Amino acid sequence: MKVARLIKTDAKYDLSVTDVDAPSLEAGKVLVEVHKAGVNPLDWKIKEGAMSPRDPVTLGEDFEGVVRDVGAGVSGLEPGDEIYGMAGFVNGASGSFAEYDLVDPQNVALRPKSVGEAEAGALPLTGVMALQAVTELFRLSPGEKILIHGGAGGIGSIAVQLARNLGAHVAVTCAADETDYVRSLGASEAIDYETQNFEEVISGYDAVYDLIGGEVYEKSFRVLKPGGTIVSTLEPPDEDLMSKYGVKAIYQHFQPTRKRLMKLAVLVDEGDIKVHVDKAFPLTETSEALRFQKEARPKGKIVIDVK
Ligand SMILES: NC(=O)c1ccc[n+]([C@@H]2O[C@H](COP(=O)([O-])OP(=O)(O)OC[C@H]3O[C@@H](n4cnc5c(N)ncnc54)[C@H](OP(=O)(O)O)[C@@H]3O)[C@@H](O)[C@H]2O)c1
Repeated sequence: MKVARLIKTDAKYDLSVTDVDAPSLEAGKVLVEVHKAGVNPLDWKIKEGAMSPRDPVTLGEDFEGVVRDVGAGVSGLEPGDEIYGMAGFVNGASGSFAEYDLVDPQNVALRPKSVGEAEAGALPLTGVMALQAVTELFRLSPGEKILIHGGAGGIGSIAVQLARNLGAHVAVTCAADETDYVRSLGASEAIDYETQNFEEVISGYDAVYDLIGGEVYEKSFRVLKPGGTIVSTLEPPDEDLMSKYGVKAIYQHFQPTRKRLMKLAVLVDEGDIKVHVDKAFPLTETSEALRFQKEARPKGKIVIDVK
């Protein structure tokens, strides 16, 4: 089978599409034929040396595909099921940029039926992050105010829709040419991160979802009201800023579960969440897909067309 594989050279990794043996079924695992694999910033960051995965290793977290076989002890899934989920690459499993993958049944669920394979394959990581943040970490109530940094990106675009659906007032930071897009998702205010200082535009917010980190994270404490919450996917809680502003700070690490993926699928099928795929690349052009994700400022998600 074909895979997009990282091979270590000095501090970085080279990515090449190569033939390897397909994985054999194991007890407690699901053998999936991958059709589409979503690209995340994580993928190019790992290629550039942000983590030290096994060497060589097949890259990719998100996928959509069809169950080909289930190992002993697996319940609730059977051959022919169309599923989506995460390969568990970050936790040491082989990645989803591959024609077949052996996955943990707890990291997958039946895919949403109302969208295409590409949209389903693009959703797992960003969707689970946004769902966990909005409904479990912030626990937003109607009328509460949330600022979502990077509202036009993968996680941000789903978080905007979830927060809007809960009746929250949603402000986002985004590029000027993404204003119409984020408003169409449900944002009430769009702040251009290149020409405006968000901390001078809004204040008294209940929640900030930080998908950018660094200076943006630090300045975000100023727009929170006392008792507010900031969740960051990039920064550990800053104890000094927490006590200075009287707010709670949380670092969010992704935790896929079948329950969250099932909930996401329902939200998609009921029309509460839309996934926007900007561009698809064949598996042979995975390097270009990663470059596009990093540099081309995609609107929505990038997908690898594996099958
Ligand atoms: N902790 C974890 O487990 C975990 C899990 C998933 C993701 N993450 C991290 O979370 C971050 C967001 O992920 P994602 O998938 O949503 O990324 P993404 O799809 O690349 O979206 C990022 C968005 O932020 C925008 N942006 C860039 N600079 C900005 C700024 N200064 N202010 C406001 N917006 C800005 C980008 O706009 P342009 O298009 O204009 O550049 C883009 O729309 C990534 O760094 C990712 O690695 C962490």
